[in-house]
Amino acid sequence: MPELVGQPIDRVDGRLKVTGGARYAADAPVKNPLYAALVQATIAKGEVEIDPAAAEAAPGVVAVLTHANAPKIKGGGGIGESRPPLADANVHYAGQVIAVVVANSLEQARSAARKVKATYKPGEAKLPASLKIDLDALDAEDTAGDVDAAFAAGGKSGAVVGHEYTTPIETHNPMEPSATVATWEGDKLTLFDATQWIGGVQGVMASAFGIDKSNVRVICPFLGGAFGCKALIWPHQLIAAMAAKAVQRPVKVVLTRSQMFTSCGHRPASRQSVTIAADAEGKVLGIRHVSAGVTSQLNGFAEPAGASAQGPYAFENGATAHKLSKCHTASPTFMRAPGETPGMYALESAMDELAHALKLDPVEFRLRNVADVEPRSKRPWSSHHLRDCYRIGAEKFGWSKRSAEPRSMHDGELLVGWGVGTASFPGNRSGASARITLQPDGRILVQCGTHDMGTGSYTVFSQVAADAVGVPIDRIDFELGDSKLPAAPMSAGSNTAATVSQAVIDAARALRKQLAETAIALAKSPFSGANADALKIVDGHVIGEGGAKMPLAELASAAGKPISADATARPSRENFGKYAFNSFGAHFCEVKVDEWLGRVRVTRFLSVIDIGRVLNRKTAHSQIVGGVVMGIGMALTEATVLDPRNGYPVNDSFADYAIPVHADIRDLDCIFIDKPDPHINELGCRGVGEIGITGVAAAVANAVFHATGKRVRDLPITPEKLL
Ligand code: MOS
Repeated sequence: MPELVGQPIDRVDGRLKVTGGARYAADAPVKNPLYAALVQATIAKGEVEIDPAAAEAAPGVVAVLTHANAPKIKGGGGIGESRPPLADANVHYAGQVIAVVVANSLEQARSAARKVKATYKPGEAKLPASLKIDLDALDAEDTAGDVDAAFAAGGKSGAVVGHEYTTPIETHNPMEPSATVATWEGDKLTLFDATQWIGGVQGVMASAFGIDKSNVRVICPFLGGAFGCKALIWPHQLIAAMAAKAVQRPVKVVLTRSQMFTSCGHRPASRQSVTIAADAEGKVLGIRHVSAGVTSQLNGFAEPAGASAQGPYAFENGATAHKLSKCHTASPTFMRAPGETPGMYALESAMDELAHALKLDPVEFRLRNVADVEPRSKRPWSSHHLRDCYRIGAEKFGWSKRSAEPRSMHDGELLVGWGVGTASFPGNRSGASARITLQPDGRILVQCGTHDMGTGSYTVFSQVAADAVGVPIDRIDFELGDSKLPAAPMSAGSNTAATVSQAVIDAARALRKQLAETAIALAKSPFSGANADALKIVDGHVIGEGGAKMPLAELASAAGKPISADATARPSRENFGKYAFNSFGAHFCEVKVDEWLGRVRVTRFLSVIDIGRVLNRKTAHSQIVGGVVMGIGMALTEATVLDPRNGYPVNDSFADYAIPVHADIRDLDCIFIDKPDPHINELGCRGVGEIGITGVAAAVANAVFHATGKRVRDLPITPEKLL
């Protein structure tokens, strides 16, 4: 039986998705639900007084919750906002939920929400007017060697570049908005929820309502994208449970697209200062990467942009630092490759500027500086193929035909530019449990409380399970997304593939042993007297040494009961201390620029990515290409703009927040190195969800520089910046 792992098989849940059979949180099969509409503050700071009378009297309204009457709950870890929703009269940002209308229909709830009367006593809000970096007043600094000496030496023999780069607020826009349906039965709470962390929701709800975790069940079989905005627990999730408790009926909360901009995090704006020095041979001597960011009053999230400088390149002298200011804005959070996404934009732009100053080809410059060990800790990489990424990419892209001089390549009236950007993201792995059961009908049920964000978890873990048990993939039923299942961690930090695959393999190993023992112990067993180790399971059959063979379905019916095995797999602490785990890649971008309109088109994009072993070339390819699309949006169009008067996002819709559409996306491709990482887990697979976006914006900006001679250090690269 050929190995399934690696093959580009179709999604096992594809049919359910295209036929509408996949149930998302808002489709939860609950009887007789009520619908909640959220009322949001229109000032950034102050106190609110609420008159709910008109809303309460509106048709179909069952309850209006405010801080005056909402059930009191406890805050705690895992919550996107430290303050529980509706805790008191204080307003900390425009968009904060100040009241919740619960009604018989969504329309009635929304209509009545407009009748909630809020009167404010405004306070003095701090809004993010500027993010100026004061190098003398940094919150944290981490240095190695002597960067100032490195910059002086670079200035003498080679070159030094130092500039500021800024990125705006970007907002997660998964197709599926966040949604929660909460039902109480006595003190048992069931939530159908759109979440990357069923275990986290379970824990937060238990502590919020003072009930045992075993009384909370969280169900999330499908997610329509997440990108980090469904990782922590946000007010609407708690509100669904609070409202359901108050009215003693199931309550459904679905964030509107507009509320996705205020109520479940965003990528904070960044201002980064990057200085890099290199000698005349193009050897990097030192890097300083400082970033300033904004966080909210209600959480302390900081985008760790400077950390990227510790990835791809060897350098002896380095400094990273950050500065954080607290403003009265909605709370930021993780968004696809937090840190690396804005960080690699700045670092890879600066590397391009330095290559230009040194008159070196930007790919050659990077090749001369590839780090053979992790630059800070000097630990060896668990596996490392960055040089191959540059070489293979350059060859397939046709990089040797690039003429070095900016503005020297044309396509008719259009300027053509080719740029390169490096991708980098840590290879994370955590612990998880899985259970595999041979069912009486001969099918194999695999259970793990992980998530499928649309990434392909169902598919890749079915492949892993089929190989590991020894059955065809159409025999596998994979269950995930339920807190009743064996526990798995938050699906974030691209850890899921590396984490869950090992738990599945370990459970399969334990199951095979049990199946062999059961087969031997059967009355009139064809394997009687055999050693369990000598039995194999191949293509759905138990096979003995002498050629005896029994279909698993026959074993299942003979056993008369399900045969089940559990396993918990944790990464080896020793390995994670000894090696540095990181995925790298290289993006090659072609842009065509209409100088008269300032319009940039990404016409060709090639990514060469090393994620260790690839579990499914089709779903992994989609992850990378999807990341590139998101990166093109970051480079050219995406920016959440805050109203300077109150900090509320003004372009909170798909009409005004421009993400790429099909017409913006041309020829994208991705090649995988596909060599197993020998240290991360048995299969050698690292995650693939986040690395795709890292370095993309820089590759585009570098291509725009090559096309036009204009260096844009402020994303997105909108037409007016090129005119
Ligand atoms: Mo990801 S931003 O770790 O969901």
